[in-house]
Amino acid sequence: MNEFAQLTFEEKTIELPVVRGTEQEIALDISKLRGQSGLITLDRGFKNTGATHSAITYLDGEKGILRYRGYSIEELAENATFEEVSYLLIYGELPTEERLDWFNNSVSHHTLVHENMKTFFHGFPLGAHPMGMLSAMVSTLSTFYPAAQNANRSVEDIELTIHRLIAKLPTLAAQAYKHNTGHPAVYPQNDLSYTENFLYMMFGLRSEDYMIDPVVNSALNKLLILHADHEQNCSTATVRVVGSSRANLYSSISAGISALWGPLHGGANQAVIEMLEQIKADGGDLQKWIDKAKDKTDSFRLMGFGHRVYKNFDPRAKIIKVAADEVLEALGVDDPILDIAKELEAVALKDEYFVSRGLYPNVDFYSGIIYRALGIPTEMFTDMFALGRLPGWIAQWKEMTENNEPIGRPRQVYTGHTERSFVPMSQR
Ligand code: CMC
Repeated sequence: MNEFAQLTFEEKTIELPVVRGTEQEIALDISKLRGQSGLITLDRGFKNTGATHSAITYLDGEKGILRYRGYSIEELAENATFEEVSYLLIYGELPTEERLDWFNNSVSHHTLVHENMKTFFHGFPLGAHPMGMLSAMVSTLSTFYPAAQNANRSVEDIELTIHRLIAKLPTLAAQAYKHNTGHPAVYPQNDLSYTENFLYMMFGLRSEDYMIDPVVNSALNKLLILHADHEQNCSTATVRVVGSSRANLYSSISAGISALWGPLHGGANQAVIEMLEQIKADGGDLQKWIDKAKDKTDSFRLMGFGHRVYKNFDPRAKIIKVAADEVLEALGVDDPILDIAKELEAVALKDEYFVSRGLYPNVDFYSGIIYRALGIPTEMFTDMFALGRLPGWIAQWKEMTENNEPIGRPRQVYTGHTERSFVPMSQR
């Protein structure tokens, strides 16, 4: 049944098709609005704009629901491996044992990066931000695999690019870390699982001297799953828009990494720990910082609080909070920063300003705490988020490409000068 909504403006009425999703989300299709009426819509920050149809991730911010391909985040985090979830996001179904073996085998055969890439790493200054290095290196991969740049690339080329990216991102992230510690790069070991291999490349120096702690490995697996997709967020929308120009997958993912870096998005996990350290160094007066966050003349925000879509609670934060407690106990971590985090959470959750605006701790409030307990340095936190989000970005890029979506190109309401004459320099 075709449904329509009517819009009346200046005595003209036009009909806008109604689109319903499988979870009864309702949208008005305004794609023909301008042609019919001369009007465009205005929605700064795309707070109320559906940019696409998507069958990958469903979330309901009011009810705190998050599902990948129909499976709840709670069940996936409890039962699945990150490799299975990656396959699910990219191919649409949970893998059989045989398909998972095929996927893991293919990925593990592409974990090395070309030795010439070392030259680029050597060029970065010591202390270069790992997100800057990661974004640059992923973009650089496109120059080593030119087939990916071909706008008429085959399905096989795309699949190979996808497997290469999943395989190489942990290697590149670990090498970015090693660059800043001055240690030699540790080469991947392909008989390890995805998370074990990453931990080995980060913390191993020689194969015999690094034992992977199962608690650390399981926490990392959970964290990556929780971050694996989140429908049309800032970095995913970036990946889709860049990809919509038919740019290659490496460049699209590199752009997504850059978008993720910002402190209002994935960079929040780093910003949370830096904020807690700042509060501690300042004497630990929590009320002072809460008041700063509430002060509209002060740009300070409580990092790790609030979310564009979750206004009651962030389901990922609920899972991760339990995981954080387990990890801290199992590893016997006693960290004063964590005490400040717990107190801050308790104070903010009772404060009318935060309660009335639906500002709850988000996934990044707790993820930074776990990463810190796992021994991952603060400036690597957002790289960890990128590792988790990669399969989601890929799935979204693939869906956009397969649906042959048009190039992303928003409109604007111009508010600048109307036409005026050029003024010669001598008269300005
Ligand atoms: N501290 C203090 N006030 C806040 C905060 C905060 N963290 N977040 C939102 N507000 C206030 C904001 O000032 C506004 O107040 P008012 O209505 O009086 O003008 C109101 O709450 C609504 O905020 P908004 O900026 O309109 O909301 P948004 O949906 O545009 O922004 C956000 C969402 C996540 C960018 C924002 O909450 C924020 O900056 N949080 C801190 C950064 C952070 O933790 N980001 C990680 C998000 S989770 C990871 C991910 O998925 O990217």
